[in-house]
Amino acid sequence: MKGIILAGGSGSRLLPLTQSIVKQLLPIYDKPMIYYPLSVLMLGNIREILIISTPKDLPRFEEMFGDGAHLGLEIHYAIQERPNGLAEAFVIGKEFVGDDDVCLILGDNLIYGEGLTRILRQSAQNVAQTKKAMIFGYYVQNPQHYGVIEFAKSSEGFEVVSIEEKPNEPKSHYAAIGLYFYPNDVLTKATQISPSHRGELEITSINQLYLQEKRLNAEILGRGYAWLDTGTHQSLLEAGNFIEIIEKRQGLKIACLEEIAYKMRFISHQQLIQLGEQMSKNQYGQYLLQVAQQ
Ligand code: DAU
Repeated sequence: MKGIILAGGSGSRLLPLTQSIVKQLLPIYDKPMIYYPLSVLMLGNIREILIISTPKDLPRFEEMFGDGAHLGLEIHYAIQERPNGLAEAFVIGKEFVGDDDVCLILGDNLIYGEGLTRILRQSAQNVAQTKKAMIFGYYVQNPQHYGVIEFAKSSEGFEVVSIEEKPNEPKSHYAAIGLYFYPNDVLTKATQISPSHRGELEITSINQLYLQEKRLNAEILGRGYAWLDTGTHQSLLEAGNFIEIIEKRQGLKIACLEEIAYKMRFISHQQLIQLGEQMSKNQYGQYLLQVAQQ
């Protein structure tokens, strides 16, 4: 399975913060925002990753991650000329995805919770075996701001009945989070949809196609999970505070890419020490050295 991180967009809701820096590189406490979605792909054992961003911002990501080898990854880059919608990721990423299945994650989504790793790996496996798409629902207070999933209870758990993009009258409180697993034919589906009334190729249109074919599975991420928004100044600060509180209390980092790469055996003990030594004057580097000692 390949992974795509969509990290473009105009960032207009966060101006002036995003005047000269792309939203997905803004800090969430002690690391750039994109570390969080990248960590999710890594925990799902996805090592070939495409980062898509704007012509102006893509070089910043290349500068940050290079070819990804220091994390035991293979990172590729591609430009999205204009924010034409999330589904355009599969048009831009067609060659990169090739014959594989693909996981798309939005570069501004923070997902955290016990059991996430298991869910990610199971989802990748399910997609490979069943050739059905997999999305995730999360109960929110303001569903009208998101893609909204309507569920019905079935003998096998929950079944998706409908999915709508930012409906005025949401049929449920379950937002579709920015994490999607698709079989390879998503590449074809992305060429079959038309722009919505807001002029975007909507990911929801893709999900509706899978639903029509009875090939859309959804899992609910329950109360034990945090799915955090970073779309406003306030929610950005709150996300940072959330990470700070948990990291301080436990003395363990969330979305520390080097630690994950080491624990997933993508990099060796020696490589982890080297990464730690490069930053040993700060707390992040010291943390890496501490992980290497354990
Ligand atoms: O966050 C989950 C929600 O993401 C889903 O519930 C919705 O169904 C889905 O459509 C999307 O909602 P938004 O319309 O609010 O997404 P937004 O336009 O804010 O874009 C999400 C991220 O993707 C943002 O960081 C910018 C980036 N982006 C967006 C577009 C439209 C791109 O990189 N390229 C794009 O073309």
